Amino acid sequence: MIPESLKNELKARVAAALTNREAAVDVMKELQSHCGWLSDEAVVAAAEILGLSTLQVEELATFYELIYRRPVGKRVIHVCDSISCWSCGCDAILAYLRQNLGVEPGGTSADGCFTLVPCACLGNCGEGPTMMIGDTLYGRLTEERVAEILEAERKALASSNSSN
Ligand code: FES
Repeated sequence: MIPESLKNELKARVAAALTNREAAVDVMKELQSHCGWLSDEAVVAAAEILGLSTLQVEELATFYELIYRRPVGKRVIHVCDSISCWSCGCDAILAYLRQNLGVEPGGTSADGCFTLVPCACLGNCGEGPTMMIGDTLYGRLTEERVAEILEAERKALASSNSSN
């Protein structure tokens, strides 16, 4: 259930934007943040807030890699597989993540913590292989470094679970 207060806050942001479409990503990300993913309910709400059709929102949602139209884990790991990272060994990093998390690309780990998503360039080409979790970019990855990052993320998730 998306609260009216959130809808009203987002409508105010849309009113302050030059065009409704300009505010679309912001609106979708906020609704996604509230729901955990951009659910069908969130698409309908986004359309209402933006004054667009649900089809127009769907088109925008499927264009952006950081908008998720199906449920994802608590952390989404985007692994760049574009040319610079590929030449630096992203295939090995992706294979390590698949094995560590027990998922195929696009899948979510059994504990619901991680979703693994190969993606296009993350803009960190000089420091590949690169992955992104949330807003944090990690470059010059090795299997050891990935193991450390996953361990830190698991600890952070466990401590946030115990404080809830
Ligand atoms: S090619 Fe991987 S960050 Fe650009």
